[in-house]
Amino acid sequence: MKVPDFDFVVLGSGIAGLTFALQAAVHSRVLVLCKATLSETNTAYAQGGIAAVLDPTDSFEQHVQDTLEAGAGLCREMAVRFMVQEAPDAIRWLQGMAIGFDESESGDMALGLEGGHSHHRIVHVKDHTGRSIQQALEEAVLRHPNISVQEHQMGIELLTDNSDSGTFCYGVQVLDLHTQEVRSIRAQAVVLATGGSGQVYQYTTNPSIATGDGLAMAVRAGADIQNMEFFQFHPTALYQANGEVFLISEALRGAGAELVLPDGSRFMHLYHPLGSLAPRDIVARAVLTEMQLHQSPCLYLDVRHLPAGEVRQNFPSIYHKCTTIGIDAEKQLIPIVPAAHYQCGGVKTDLSGRTSIDRLYAIGEVACTGVHGANRLASNSLLEGVVFARSAAEHATGELSKQQVTIPDLAIEEESGGTLWLGMRAEIARKRAKLQKLLWEQAGIVRSVKGLLRCKAELEAMQRKAKGIRELTGIHQEVLELQNLLTVAELITNAALHRRESVGGHFVQDHATEIGHADSILQHSNALVQLANAT
Ligand code: FAD
Ligand code: SIN
Repeated sequence: MKVPDFDFVVLGSGIAGLTFALQAAVHSRVLVLCKATLSETNTAYAQGGIAAVLDPTDSFEQHVQDTLEAGAGLCREMAVRFMVQEAPDAIRWLQGMAIGFDESESGDMALGLEGGHSHHRIVHVKDHTGRSIQQALEEAVLRHPNISVQEHQMGIELLTDNSDSGTFCYGVQVLDLHTQEVRSIRAQAVVLATGGSGQVYQYTTNPSIATGDGLAMAVRAGADIQNMEFFQFHPTALYQANGEVFLISEALRGAGAELVLPDGSRFMHLYHPLGSLAPRDIVARAVLTEMQLHQSPCLYLDVRHLPAGEVRQNFPSIYHKCTTIGIDAEKQLIPIVPAAHYQCGGVKTDLSGRTSIDRLYAIGEVACTGVHGANRLASNSLLEGVVFARSAAEHATGELSKQQVTIPDLAIEEESGGTLWLGMRAEIARKRAKLQKLLWEQAGIVRSVKGLLRCKAELEAMQRKAKGIRELTGIHQEVLELQNLLTVAELITNAALHRRESVGGHFVQDHATEIGHADSILQHSNALVQLANAT
């Protein structure tokens, strides 16, 4: 038996990981590990903001109902109610970290609007809310005497053992990406805050760290996983000829931007009464359908009718990005395409972030608390990250104060692979690109049973090849990420095959007639095809 190195080891430095660390460190020793720099997280790229009921004319009940509706009836209502009620306190906590959220002229919090929300309730800092949150939390963490931070450390496997009451987690095996050494770190509890897995798709708003590592580790350790068929696609990523993806925030549509066809005409009212502000899954499918019907590589966002200076003033990052590709967003149409954005499913947890493995917590995008159901309501993700990180920290520190557990002196012995030779590095990159294309085409915005079955077979073959590569090369970041992405891809494909209905972010052509808005898309498509044939 061994004394643990830390009370808690947290994998991940986004909003969830850093919030947990700050809350737990009041009485505990916390180690935060991250795969890249502390700042390279999904959190840092968040634009729109955080949803919370702060206006007296809004209500918890309306936020709950909007979340349940976006989630297409598959949310866990108890978790939704918990998150919504905790939201104002979570915002106050973030304000305590000196995050200067935008204020209106009257000095109240300025509240934006996004798709699926029946009320203005998005707390934000211009269009760089995530960056402001990330910076503030980082500063607090780096100042904290009980928190240690180690960058460029990649979690490989969870250390688990079995007791009479089931499997428990006592640490994590880590690859030091500077030295390529593999080591084991022991703790009273491990917290997965590794974010999402958007890199499984060819086009994604997610940064390169989002390879589903924590999810894949949890799968290998035997944790329960849920809702992986529900991947959310954002309808408006900036279309760039080089394939690079940059998000154009839904908050821009909240401020009045309209989706338009190549000829400048509006079309979203044909798909949903909320038009350009319909729930995200509906808008993403509508954009894809219209791109196909018009054989256009992109559609457009029209902001030309907004007051002069509004985009430049309130959406400076978007305005600036557009200028770098020669577009004046206030005077010209902004070309957009859909892109993979958010993993709604993940490691199943309760309201305290507990997984099915004792002393293993999961928080943030890697977790499935049940609040998103089949489709996440805009700006509920940063909120979920902070709310459930706080409740997990409360639970974990409570357990720690009751008893310190003894930790087995077990470690997984495995050698790192040293330097990866160039040819193999290129081969792994090719396999990753092949996987991303496969998922985009067969398990993307619109799916078919035939395509999913083909995808499943290909993934099995690719998984075997990746295993062969790992045996040849040993442990390397590139190989590990490829294997993890393949695991995520298999989870998505298998869950998608298992669910025999189209619902929320999971849309299968074969089951399309089972939901109302799918009918509307098909009817509209058919009408356009008839029109095209007639002219
Ligand atoms: P992340 O912020 O993604 O952090 C993951 C951390 O895990 C990183 O530190 C990474 O290094 C680490 N990690 C990963 N794998 C390993 C490993 N193997 N070992 C060690 N560390 C590892 N949501 C909203 O609510 N509002 C928005 O306005 C919004 N805008 C968005 C805009 C963009 C462009 C994107 C991509 C997402 C947006 N989202 C938004 C979603 C939201 O940002 C994310 O869901 C949320 O930030 C996830 O936070 P997290 O703490 O779970 O993980
Ligand atoms: C956006 O700003 O459009 C993203 C909001 C979100 O993902 O919740």
